[in-house]
Amino acid sequence: MTKLLLRALAGETLPTPPIWMMRQAGRYLPEYRATRAQAGDFLSLCYNPDLAAEVTLQPIRRFGFDAAILFADILLLPQALGADLWFVTGEGPRLSTITDAAGVAALKPAGDIHDRLAPVYETIRILTRELPAETALIGFAGAPWTVATYMIAGRGTPDQGPAHAFKAADRAAFSALIDRITEATVLYLSAQIEAGAEVIKLFDSWAGSLGSADFDDFAIAPTRRIIAALKARHPGIPVIAFPREAGGRYVGFARATGADCVALDNSVSAEWAAAHVQTDGCVQGNLAPRHMVTGGAELVAEAQRITRALRGGPHVFNLGHGITPEASPDNVAAMIEAVRSA
Ligand code: CP3
Repeated sequence: MTKLLLRALAGETLPTPPIWMMRQAGRYLPEYRATRAQAGDFLSLCYNPDLAAEVTLQPIRRFGFDAAILFADILLLPQALGADLWFVTGEGPRLSTITDAAGVAALKPAGDIHDRLAPVYETIRILTRELPAETALIGFAGAPWTVATYMIAGRGTPDQGPAHAFKAADRAAFSALIDRITEATVLYLSAQIEAGAEVIKLFDSWAGSLGSADFDDFAIAPTRRIIAALKARHPGIPVIAFPREAGGRYVGFARATGADCVALDNSVSAEWAAAHVQTDGCVQGNLAPRHMVTGGAELVAEAQRITRALRGGPHVFNLGHGITPEASPDNVAAMIEAVRSA
């Protein structure tokens, strides 16, 4: 019996889609908050293989999701390339900034990342032993553009202004940064696959802010390079790409990048995606995360509408973005029940 997620990613149309949620291990779960308190802070949790494996398993135990996603963060890679990284409680990540070509040149070579990231690989090895036989394990990284926006600004930004300004001021240095992240991401994800990740997801959370030529150069091209390199080293490894808020540019994204599945945010309708994106292969998504806070009849109706709209082709049920800390675990259970009974 092949795992449900792997069947959908291979292009199979299933009567019930596999289900998992972005940020399924997170602050909406009391058991996550307890383990995080035990670890101390968020980064200590990411770098503690036993505790990171434990929080990865918590939502699987509670809800029986079809996939587990490695507990880590997209910002561990910049740290392994030499950036300082810390998290300010209630605010989010902070990094040392890159402001010019010299800052790019000062980064470590891509091949130097593994010492720092070894605990992540160990977390994966623990999970391959402890996950139920039917649960697929997803490894991940940020896509280069999204990672670069944090490395340049030193924090999350509403419009990615500092990264756009860097790109406008020195496109060669900006491209060198994208290339360094791309090379390091191939090595990082390859090591995750060697440790036991069965699926890879690339998070391009800020893809939507790229203009059309930049979208080709900095969302599509690096994603295509990473996927080609991974598939050359690990034939058949399925990849989910998430160019968040790509809008009409979701059309053809899988073909342009070689991704096996495109993850949809909740700004596009499932009916539109069935007609224009699922024609190319598997799609993932795309319930608005707010329903996990509000619940009720609207949650059930929306989850079932999405499930039915995408039932004619390969589909992985998920939210359009990460579940938020205010969400209720009861609503997660109701979502799963709604999808499976649609
Ligand atoms: O999805 C999962 O359950 C797996 C683990 C995971 C985390 N972050 C854990 C996390 C994954 C896949 C990510 C990806 C990630 N990290 C992205 C891309 C997806 C997206 O949300 O757009 C981005 C942009 C980051 C960077 C990041 N990490 C930010 C901006 C923040 C602060 C915002 C917030 O939600 O607190 C984080 C922190 C973070 N990463 C938390 C978790 C569970 C919360 C930290 C805590 O416990 O205090």
